[in-house]
Amino acid sequence: MNHKALLLWIFLQCASALLSSAAGENAVLKGEDSGLDEFSTEGTTLNGEIKYNMRKSLDMEQEGCYLLTGKKDRLEECGFNATAKTIFIIHGWTISGMFENWMFKLVSAVMQRESGANVVVVDWIPMAQQLYPDAVNHTHTVGLDIATMLNWLQDEEQLPLQKVHLIGYSLGAHVAGYAGMYVRGTIGRITGLDPAGPMFEGTEEQWRLSPDDADFVDVLHTYTREALGVSIGIQQPVGDIDIYPNGGDVQPGCGLSDVLAVAGDFMAVMKCEHERAVHLFVDSLMNKDHMSYAYQCTGPDRFKKGICLSCRKNRCNHIGYNARKMRKRRNSKMYLKTRADTPFGGYHYQMKMHVFNRKQSDNADPTFLVKLYGAHNDTANIFVDVYDNTIGLNLTNTFLVFTEQDIGDLLKIRLSWEGNSNTWGSVWKNLKKTLWSWNTTSTSIPVLQVRRIRVKAGETQKKFTFCAQDPSKTEISPGESITFVKCRDGWEVKPRKRLPM
Ligand SMILES: *[C@@H]1O[C@H](CO)[C@@H](O)[C@H](O)[C@H]1NC(C)=O
Ligand SMILES: *[C@@H]1O[C@H](CO)[C@@H](O)[C@H](O)[C@H]1NC(C)=O
Ligand SMILES: *[C@@H]1O[C@H](CO)[C@@H](O)[C@H](O)[C@H]1NC(C)=O
Ligand SMILES: *[C@@H]1O[C@H](CO)[C@@H](O)[C@H](O)[C@H]1NC(C)=O
Ligand SMILES: *[C@@H]1O[C@H](CO)[C@@H](O)[C@H](O)[C@H]1NC(C)=O
Repeated sequence: MNHKALLLWIFLQCASALLSSAAGENAVLKGEDSGLDEFSTEGTTLNGEIKYNMRKSLDMEQEGCYLLTGKKDRLEECGFNATAKTIFIIHGWTISGMFENWMFKLVSAVMQRESGANVVVVDWIPMAQQLYPDAVNHTHTVGLDIATMLNWLQDEEQLPLQKVHLIGYSLGAHVAGYAGMYVRGTIGRITGLDPAGPMFEGTEEQWRLSPDDADFVDVLHTYTREALGVSIGIQQPVGDIDIYPNGGDVQPGCGLSDVLAVAGDFMAVMKCEHERAVHLFVDSLMNKDHMSYAYQCTGPDRFKKGICLSCRKNRCNHIGYNARKMRKRRNSKMYLKTRADTPFGGYHYQMKMHVFNRKQSDNADPTFLVKLYGAHNDTANIFVDVYDNTIGLNLTNTFLVFTEQDIGDLLKIRLSWEGNSNTWGSVWKNLKKTLWSWNTTSTSIPVLQVRRIRVKAGETQKKFTFCAQDPSKTEISPGESITFVKCRDGWEVKPRKRLPM
């Protein structure tokens, strides 16, 4: 127990440093975005007061209009349209007592995408600017208050709950969960953006966001890396679909070296990864023509090895705002890789190749690389990351290739076996190779054979088979490569049903 308390204390120290760094950043930004902070401090908030700020214009300097439970004239003043969609945006814990920058980006993206909707910011800043355990305790009160507001809107305006969408970040995700649990009826949708982990991980469903809180609960998990026994974002699945971009831990562009240049400390890494959920959601609102898919998989490791890229039986879905509601399937874990910046979406390819060992090269431990040539562009050499990190000999190896750019139709694949004089970091592998080659004559250079590569594109679900461009060149040794092109006899993997006579 003491041990746990100590960990929580350490976590709180880290988190407060994290949030004060966020506040520092806001202070810097104040000059540029002057007026934005007015939105947060406008109408001095009483302790315990929860405000419903209905946004009326894309101009964040405009104060908006405050809805009050029981005040019908306010609905008219604010232009509340009960037949349109109603979207509530709920923030999380705060030390600074101000809205962070993401809030403005999210509100603006939602309003641009859904111009007729009622977009309401739930401002519970005074109750969120507390010690973390107290703020956690308040999530219950705030959720109940939102439920009361929604019940009143149902009575007064016949508000259809099906058209209500709550979007909550961090602690705000659990606030949305409570609102969904307490409201009379069932809310259409709740989106949890990296729901908070500490004091929620492992608790029973009524104490956190859960699939029963709305008709459709979708969750993005971006910071589930555990440190000192706690994870800032909840690790366990808590929705109908739970999407873990980049495995839900290391987000590209959030590495220490990436953020050092911008913000400058370790806390910035944490903020970058936790907040990535919001930015992925904003991206899904803004880049409707470049939607990212996530693929159902039992775990991040299997996904990384390319085993799960299927869209059959609803196994894939769009991420963020564009996620399709699926028939109730609780806690379905889904994965994808992303780019480091917006637009975050990229392209996934599953590749399968059988590696034949016909020349007694049992000791060969190859490091393979592939380069993809497309109609629009080519990729760099990409490391072939197979299951268990070892290429299986006389076996079919499956791996995942991710490209950040749309290379167009895949035309050609070059498979290379890294030579000994490479720059790749696999020092140990090379050391083994070197030791082994000392005791072998020059005639026993390892030789393996790859005759074709089967490819499935995740985004299009198209399958192709690639055959060696030169049918006599299917063998490969260290330092060599084989080029594959689409097989002449039909591009599709499945044989034609009707064979030409
Ligand atoms: C209210 O929303 C509905 C549905 O989006 C729309 O058809 C209607 O025109 C809106 N009413 C007003 C007054 O904007
Ligand atoms: C949570 O709030 C209630 C009152 O709403 C209070 O009685 C209780 O002690 C609080 N719990 C903690 C852990 O602060
Ligand atoms: C692979 O099969 C060949 C025969 O085709 C055999 O000589 C070799 O030992 C096998 N290697 C492994 C690792 O199973
Ligand atoms: C091709 O990719 C490179 C980076 O890999 C990029 O710099 C270049 O702009 C791309 N070209 C086109 C035509 O997209
Ligand atoms: C080298 O190979 C021979 C047989 O080919 C074996 O007896 C010897 O132990 C090997 N030496 C090393 C260092 O592996």
